[in-house]
Amino acid sequence: MCGIIGFSGREQAAPILLDGLARMEYRGYDSAGIAVRAETCGLQVKKTKGRLQVLSTLTHGGADLEGTLGIGHTRWATHGEPNDINAHPHVSENGQIALVHNGIIENYLEIKEHLQKQGVTFTSDTDSEVVAQLLEFHYNECGSMLEAVGRVLRRIEGSYAFGIICSDYPNALIAARKDSPLILGYGENGNFIASDVTAVIKYTRDVAYMDDGEIAVVTPETIDVFDSELMPREKEHHQIDWDVSAAEKGGYAHFMFKEIMEQPEAIRKTVSPRIREGRVVLDDISLTAEYVKGISRIFVIACGSSYHVGMVSKYNWEHLLRRPVEVCLASEFRYSDPLVDESTLVLVISQSGETLDTMAAMREARRRGGRTLAIVNVVGSSIAREADDVLYTWAGPEIAVATTKAYSTQLVLMDLVGLYLADLLGTVSREEYDAVLAEMQALPEKMQRVLENFEDVQYFASRYFNHNSIFFIGRNLDYAMGLEGSLKLKEISYIHSEAYASGELKHGTISLIEPGTLVVALGTFAPLFDKAMSNVVEVKARGAEVLAVTTEMFREKMEKTANSTVVIPDTHPVLQPSLGVVPLQLFAYYVALQRGCDIDKPRNLAKSVTVE
Ligand code: M6R
Repeated sequence: MCGIIGFSGREQAAPILLDGLARMEYRGYDSAGIAVRAETCGLQVKKTKGRLQVLSTLTHGGADLEGTLGIGHTRWATHGEPNDINAHPHVSENGQIALVHNGIIENYLEIKEHLQKQGVTFTSDTDSEVVAQLLEFHYNECGSMLEAVGRVLRRIEGSYAFGIICSDYPNALIAARKDSPLILGYGENGNFIASDVTAVIKYTRDVAYMDDGEIAVVTPETIDVFDSELMPREKEHHQIDWDVSAAEKGGYAHFMFKEIMEQPEAIRKTVSPRIREGRVVLDDISLTAEYVKGISRIFVIACGSSYHVGMVSKYNWEHLLRRPVEVCLASEFRYSDPLVDESTLVLVISQSGETLDTMAAMREARRRGGRTLAIVNVVGSSIAREADDVLYTWAGPEIAVATTKAYSTQLVLMDLVGLYLADLLGTVSREEYDAVLAEMQALPEKMQRVLENFEDVQYFASRYFNHNSIFFIGRNLDYAMGLEGSLKLKEISYIHSEAYASGELKHGTISLIEPGTLVVALGTFAPLFDKAMSNVVEVKARGAEVLAVTTEMFREKMEKTANSTVVIPDTHPVLQPSLGVVPLQLFAYYVALQRGCDIDKPRNLAKSVTVE
């Protein structure tokens, strides 16, 4: 979704703004723009539809724009098509105020009509321009930008992160946030605002996270933060400890491939500190044994791949904990009148920690008395800060829109938490507890072996990339894993695909199988392997081409039936999806590569979905 950057400092702003925007390209966008204030010529705005490169060429890398104060934006269209006019920054009618916005202003039409009646002319179709015009209106009334921003925030409804500059203020930019991410960066040669830390990490590691309702005034020397009543607030500083190179491709052709390859290490970092002397240790959460024993039901709420982690966890947790686990899409949960009370534990899974639907669902769960435990990758993100407890996946920055290492680390962390709770409840045998933990520690090495065979998958992708419709079938954990395999393929290769529980095929979907249809058959879940094989035979009998994923144990049986087989190491069934998903990620990657798709930035998608 939209990316915002702002800089007030002692260096030329435009090149810094463009660099910051480039580092946020991964968030997904369709147009880009910057506004800079210069002593000689006031506000200068350059914006354009399309890739950042176009904007960079237009401004000679920013060199054309003088000035040390500016704001920049990459837009992911919500109101109004992607074009030059709807691109941000938006400028008020008298040309004095420029604004960038991430979020949605829900009552923008009503405000627009009101301003139109006052004679204000609008140039774009966006909700964001309305805020720029409203700011001018209040600024003319009160003569103070800070006061005008306060008045505007009281008037608008919806979600926002704003960056604002005004030609009357040579050094200050103003920022505000509600339900959209915004960080403050304290640099040596100036200070920043940005949608995420990747944009500023090259310049500073010293950041603070803005909270809802806060307004910040950023100058080259200071950042002053105020609450919605314009009372000053102190901000806690955080040091970013990951390296700039973690957010760079480092010789790989795509971030997605790099991140797939980083999975063994990411899992090691997520798991190792949490296993001590053969026990799961979760120092960072405060669930007491007494509370855990009183849990009556468990919800997992999430979106997209994080939701698929929930689907795998449902099988694993119900097996380990003997408690009902309901997995809900966050966008459905929040409006579903959910049955949550004090005895409900609500797991909230999110890579970014900023997904608006997930955050809203979490708030709803808390409002109803549920206790929330968030599994989040981005430190300091909104979900991490609002949940009752948070456990971080230590996957490092994930840049490709299609998640891989975040998914894998979420999966193992959920397995760890499941084991921990099952142990407290006494619902897991010592043998199984030890077996899962031992395999969990062996997982990075086994995953490395799967990755070393990437050329097998590459070859199968080159055989099958021309299919237009692909089915993923499997039972139990294989079905849950297939959901993720199918989503990966859809989002980056644009091939229609569906994941089906194999046993359900005969209730309708098998009518779609015809000679040549590609079926990706997942046969890694040992307890149901024979049943899964029957379904493979059924689709083969109807002419399907079968690409199978199975384990060493079942290699022989599978190879006799499937047209092509990828073999992965055996592990404990609870952990099998952690290995099984890797060939599916690689398959999606190589199919997309063969089809010439924009792998890291697939069409219409954003990395962090901060609108409803
Ligand atoms: O940041 P989150 O985990 O909350 O994001 C949820 C989904 O938007 C995300 O998993 C999405 O489905 C990915 N692009 C899938 O690869």
